[in-house]
Amino acid sequence: MTLNRRQLFRLVGAGAALSSLGTTAAVAAQPKFVEPTAQKPMLLCFNENPLGMSEKAKEAIASTMYGSRYPFAQVIAFKKDLAKFMDVKPDEVLLTHGSAEAIRATIEAEATKNTVLVQPELTYGDGADVAKRNNILVKNVKMGPDWSIDLAALRKVAAAEAKKHRVLVYLVNPNNPTSTIADSNEIFNWIKSQPKNTFFILDEAYAEFVNDPSFKSCCELVRQGFDNLVVLKTFSKIFAMAGMRLGYAVGDVKVINKIRDHVAYEVMMNQTTLAAALSELNDKEFLKESKESNDEAREILYKALKELNIPYLPSQTNFVFIDLKAPLKPFADRMKAEHILVGRPFPPAVQWCRISLGTPAEMRYFVEKLKEFRQKGWV
Ligand SMILES: Cc1ncc(COP(=O)(O)O)c(C=O)c1O
Repeated sequence: MTLNRRQLFRLVGAGAALSSLGTTAAVAAQPKFVEPTAQKPMLLCFNENPLGMSEKAKEAIASTMYGSRYPFAQVIAFKKDLAKFMDVKPDEVLLTHGSAEAIRATIEAEATKNTVLVQPELTYGDGADVAKRNNILVKNVKMGPDWSIDLAALRKVAAAEAKKHRVLVYLVNPNNPTSTIADSNEIFNWIKSQPKNTFFILDEAYAEFVNDPSFKSCCELVRQGFDNLVVLKTFSKIFAMAGMRLGYAVGDVKVINKIRDHVAYEVMMNQTTLAAALSELNDKEFLKESKESNDEAREILYKALKELNIPYLPSQTNFVFIDLKAPLKPFADRMKAEHILVGRPFPPAVQWCRISLGTPAEMRYFVEKLKEFRQKGWV
């Protein structure tokens, strides 16, 4: 089955199940399982792709022999490919050093002297960290039931704030650490209503893992011409390039130009990273394998959690948020003693633990440890 980029985007970017590309095949890219040690612990803590970079990306890196020259031409060529993949114009894309840089640059570009950042209280911390460093007030909005994003409450707080301030709404969808999605139609309606003094930052770092067909990437609103939002994406997650540092922003040309003023040099990206990214972008087999491996790992974890009666939130990402019903630290310390690193504390969910999904083999190992912990009365 051959897909053009536009079709592939719909499957990958819009978050539909990549497994629909074919039946679940053996995952060729699975790395060999090795028991964790103190020197090489099992990393179930950073939401990375446990398969590692694709073979093609590694080959692309090895053949990047022109490191003595500036990468201007490669940046321009890569942006064209990326824009095609995303079905937007090259001018509507800004390359950044990871989406971390895109979060910082967006907030700094869009903030005025009188700005408030509005966000759900349980979300990825970068938005609030950048805001605080820039003396921007952060308004945390309480979560809904089961740590859901309460869009109605966010909207109310943002509307009240917008009477006095410029408002930046930071929305991570799917959310981290909860792994769940907020209602796409509600988000679309809110942005389309173009509330005054309000700009939306949509962080879609995990969109490629989503299985729920109701999820829609907000890139669609950029294509429709809305200029009150930016969508932030990353190569760190399903594309397996967390250590290579590449993210990007998708937005209206005016929005992108404004954010560009807050990054060092878009034309000076690392060409090795670009070579790897271009290869990953076109490697639909690798993306499909990564998605299938993640789905399989998630099912292994779900099965054990059900057996052990440990509640969890239904995950649309490469991590699962589980309810320990006890403080996180003793659990994390005991897992660490087994050379397994789990997620950090995410207040106010102080009794919950974020487990990043490893390979299926890693999850089987983790699940055995979890069962041993139950026998010892630790979970
Ligand atoms: C929601 C979210 N946004 C952004 C990032 C930053 O990712 P990177 O800078 O590697 O693109 C992360 C990393 O975990 C994340 O979870």
